[in-house]
Amino acid sequence: MRKESLARYFYKMLFTQLIILIAFPLSSTGGTWTYNGSEGEHHWSKHYPYCGGAFQSPINFQPELLRYDPDLLPVQVHNYNLSSKEQLTFSNNGHSVQLSLPSHMHLSSLPDQYTAAQLHFHWGSPHMLAGSEHTVSGRQFPAEMHVVHFNSGKYPSISIAADKADGLAVLGVFIEVGEFNPAFDRFLKFVKGIKYRDQKVQVPAFNIQELLPAHLEQYYRYDGSLTTPPCYPSVLWTVFRMPVTISLTQYKALATGLFSSLAQESVPVPLHRNYRKPQLTDNRVVLVSFQEVRGQHGRHLVASPLQRRQIIQQLLMGDLSDVMDESLHHLLPKLARKPWVAKKRKTNQRYQHWSQITEKKQRNQMPNPTGKTPSVWKTVHISPCWQKYGINEDSLSYTHLKNNVTLQLGRHHTDIQVVKALRKAVFPELNLRSYLNCKSDLDLQTIRCLLRTRPTDEATELDQALTKASQRQKLKPMAENRGPALTKLTGQTSVTIHKNAHNMVPANLKEHATEWED
Ligand SMILES: *[C@@H]1O[C@H](CO)[C@@H](O)[C@H](O)[C@H]1NC(C)=O
Ligand SMILES: *[C@@H]1O[C@H](CO)[C@@H](O)[C@H](O)[C@H]1NC(C)=O
Ligand SMILES: *[C@@H]1O[C@H](CO)[C@@H](O)[C@H](O)[C@H]1NC(C)=O
Ligand SMILES: [Zn+2]
Repeated sequence: MRKESLARYFYKMLFTQLIILIAFPLSSTGGTWTYNGSEGEHHWSKHYPYCGGAFQSPINFQPELLRYDPDLLPVQVHNYNLSSKEQLTFSNNGHSVQLSLPSHMHLSSLPDQYTAAQLHFHWGSPHMLAGSEHTVSGRQFPAEMHVVHFNSGKYPSISIAADKADGLAVLGVFIEVGEFNPAFDRFLKFVKGIKYRDQKVQVPAFNIQELLPAHLEQYYRYDGSLTTPPCYPSVLWTVFRMPVTISLTQYKALATGLFSSLAQESVPVPLHRNYRKPQLTDNRVVLVSFQEVRGQHGRHLVASPLQRRQIIQQLLMGDLSDVMDESLHHLLPKLARKPWVAKKRKTNQRYQHWSQITEKKQRNQMPNPTGKTPSVWKTVHISPCWQKYGINEDSLSYTHLKNNVTLQLGRHHTDIQVVKALRKAVFPELNLRSYLNCKSDLDLQTIRCLLRTRPTDEATELDQALTKASQRQKLKPMAENRGPALTKLTGQTSVTIHKNAHNMVPANLKEHATEWED
């Protein structure tokens, strides 16, 4: 008897161990990533699917992407001048060196309050002074500093904020090599104490603002992601135009003195070239707060936030043949200058009326200090493209979405399927949000999502018109769900018009959204 129960116990244990092994095969390797080799950036998406997804950072600030926005206010930092009585933790996490920041440091002049959490660096190798993540017209700076803040107006901690679309705001600072920088030496002189991964030292605090460039009013602003795994597209980026300067000796303190391996490891691995390469722009544009002398950056916004909101409302509720006749170039601005002949012609009167209202309201509109229009999103509350994953706009958490998507793909999904499904689920949402804030052009994929809420004939016709137009313009080839497939799609949408915005809704727009099933 006793023997038998022992054997049973043994098998039971073995079985439990097996279950643990089967259920959590990734737990031992999921956390490792590096900047080269078999866990390098091209492999990140295997364990971190958002790294292969939409709205990734860094990007190259090339002239064609830039749009001058005169409403962008200077960045305002608060309580950056820390007392030397305070202590900051300076640490090596194996990917970078990081300085912890106290929660009384924060940013204003953004749509929400953002509280500082940490700052860290990306740099090149000892001999290649090229290690910034963002680049300007293809030019890489020797290094880049990131001051990471989280949306404390909405979320209680950085870890909760990090996987939310509006969770983080990062200040990026290009670092040039030249003159000695005393502010950087406040912590660089302690770098020998954190040569190896997981080491940390306490350093006296100082005026963090001295690490920033003098001109806080000149910057690039765009919607992007963490540049390291898990690469959540949750970052409102502000990258200052002017670099700061450190000496070659200071640069080398980073590039030669640090290791990504633990102190006890027998073969030390140098910590350098810890930057990610520029990512696809994904229909994003970069707003710039400064105007180039030669006017190259002077391209003004194609459509105002108000016009954008009205275009979306038109797609959701308005007369689609009007959209087809008159607003096609607003939908896909790249088509703008080419003559467009619509098959079906209706009177222009309605549209003219609409434009007049638009212009009048625009003139009366309060200037928007940040270039963001936070209330816009609230006026159009829609999630037709990812509703099947049980997520709505208010509860968008990238980790929930990943879990739901993985569940829905079933047990035998591959890594690539997860990457693709997540990208497809996230892109229209991010594109729409960013479009309404003037930081992206509208994508055909997003328009298709919106059209899922509409009666079939008109929507199909518009879809076909857009597809044809964009093919003619030799834009990127169309994705799946062309014409006929669209009619099969089902979607439910709830649309709420904000009280204030209600007055601005064009006369021909219906008051309530239609819900329908095919
Ligand atoms: C990483 O890159 C360096 C060259 O910068 C190379 O010597 C090294 O072997 C690479 N490491 C791996 C794991 O590939
Ligand atoms: C920062 O604070 C210190 C006192 O802690 C003060 O002496 C110094 O002038 C301040 N610096 C700036 C730029 O305000
Ligand atoms: C998806 O995630 C949300 C949390 O955002 C959860 O409430 C919902 O039940 C999940 N849906 C499915 C189908 O798993
Ligand atoms: Zn960074």
